[in-house]
Amino acid sequence: MSTIPKIKTLPQLLKLIHSGAGYDGIAEMLHQIDFEYEEIEHLCEWSDESYQKISIEKGDSYELMLMCWEPDQESPVHDHASGQGWIYVVTGMLQELLFYKDDVAKPLEIKFTETINEGDVSYINDEQGIHKIVNTNHERTVSLHYYTNPSEEVTVYDELSGEESRFKLH
Ligand SMILES: [Fe+2]
Repeated sequence: MSTIPKIKTLPQLLKLIHSGAGYDGIAEMLHQIDFEYEEIEHLCEWSDESYQKISIEKGDSYELMLMCWEPDQESPVHDHASGQGWIYVVTGMLQELLFYKDDVAKPLEIKFTETINEGDVSYINDEQGIHKIVNTNHERTVSLHYYTNPSEEVTVYDELSGEESRFKLH
């Protein structure tokens, strides 16, 4: 049982973030989110071109983002520099494809895939590997993302050639 009560609204979540949850606390906090989609629907932006990233709040050591995915939209393969990232799926479902980071095989080699269902929390850092996120759902998916390195550039990898480029992902 968590000591953190269920988080039903965005202001409740921001208040907890401001209170300084710490790394262990971030995972616990995200597991306690119990939003209705309607709570953040007004913040969503959609495009047929690409998934949309909306910054909800950016501090010195964190950024809370909303991502809006049409069916089949996907992120590039990327690392997380020195930071950590958590994903909470508000509505819909995402597929995470994790690749080996050290052996930059060409094409990149998949380590495992994971489904992140509605209400699930997923975690990543560079020790685990590099990843891309895909909306394999037939419906729109909306996810909340919490990053600990809001101003850092990450590396993006071309899936076929392994070629690297620097990118401001968040
Ligand atoms: Fe990521």
